[in-house]
Amino acid sequence: MLRTPAAVRDAGRHTAHNYHPLPVVISSAEGAWVTDVDGRRYLDCLAGYSALNFGHRHPTLIATAHAQLDRLTLTSRAFVHDQFADFCRELAALCGKELVLPMNTGAEAVETGIKVARKWGYQVKGVPAGQATIVVADGNFHGRTTTIVSFSTDADARADFGPYTPGFRVVPYGDLAALAEAVDEHTVAVLLEPVQGEQGVVVPPEGYLPGVRQLCDERNVLFIADEIQSGLGRTGATFACEQDGVVPDVYLLGKALGGGIVPVSAVAADAAVLGVLKPGQHGSTFGGNPLACAVATEVVRLLASGEFQRRSTELGERLHSGLRALIGKGLVAVRGRGLWAGLDIDPALMSGREACERLMERGVLAKDTHGSTIRLAPPLVVTPEEIDHAVAQLAAVLAG
Ligand SMILES: Cc1ncc(COP(=O)(O)O)c(C=O)c1O
Repeated sequence: MLRTPAAVRDAGRHTAHNYHPLPVVISSAEGAWVTDVDGRRYLDCLAGYSALNFGHRHPTLIATAHAQLDRLTLTSRAFVHDQFADFCRELAALCGKELVLPMNTGAEAVETGIKVARKWGYQVKGVPAGQATIVVADGNFHGRTTTIVSFSTDADARADFGPYTPGFRVVPYGDLAALAEAVDEHTVAVLLEPVQGEQGVVVPPEGYLPGVRQLCDERNVLFIADEIQSGLGRTGATFACEQDGVVPDVYLLGKALGGGIVPVSAVAADAAVLGVLKPGQHGSTFGGNPLACAVATEVVRLLASGEFQRRSTELGERLHSGLRALIGKGLVAVRGRGLWAGLDIDPALMSGREACERLMERGVLAKDTHGSTIRLAPPLVVTPEEIDHAVAQLAAVLAG
């Protein structure tokens, strides 16, 4: 008898139902593959929303984590530990920035970016106290805190969580004129995802990000790029911004930075920006802990080799050409970059959820978003044959 149905029921029994997971119960994983409690294998085409860019249990990362677990796991930032300096130096170098501020989750990195931008606005730009604004894009996803959902345009994420934090203006994503209109002398930052992941892997029009950069320069406003999902190899570059020839003032990083092992996030910026924070003004008990730093330093080294960015570029072409061939055969649109794709399924055929359930039955795990869209983001260790396999399974699902 299969163990899955009872395990799914059990998993839902004593938890808030803030997720609607696919009915698969995973018990082990390696590389791009996971195995469920009944021994069935699935190709993981979600990769923990890009937190598993290097695959499940990457050998170097696992060995590093084991070694660190045997030596030192937590000190708090009240003391210095011996994994901290390397992590900050190497991540700063990868980002081309002077400083790094480590946190844990993506939402915390976003909150940190918001706080730093506001303080910079008051102390450096000279914005009158309490007047700072930050301009964001509609369709954004930056996390789940009360402040962050205050400027979400997704009703599910926002409704009934007020009162909302003021100080944000929302403009259409990709619309430079609207952005220019929204920025005024009290604006301290423009906060954007260079590619909107949760929205369905939405790539902005050409020239948008360079235009944002130019506007921010002209108006003395910080450009904060939320690369928490788009960064660290996913799009075929270390940062998605790079592909548009743009360097933001502030990078927000998370997900893959923890190597799929520990939550690690970070804000990277120059001293003129991050230097506004003084002792006691911001922090986190677990941020920058030894285990996190040890693993994340190895993540930075994996990225410094360029191997994963190359794989994402090359295999991404294969993925996208396979998917494009399905337009008109059940798909109405395909977007994305590198090993990252948003697919719009013909809603007359089936919902995104239904497609994901059928893919699961065929041994491929993916996740729907916004009704009829599916996101594909396999680990960057996936092979060409595995990509062909995923595309073939999708074709079979669409063919009914
Ligand atoms: C672009 C972006 N920013 C922030 C977050 C929030 O990260 P976390 O779930 O680790 O708080 C996410 C998560 O999906 C994201 O995609």
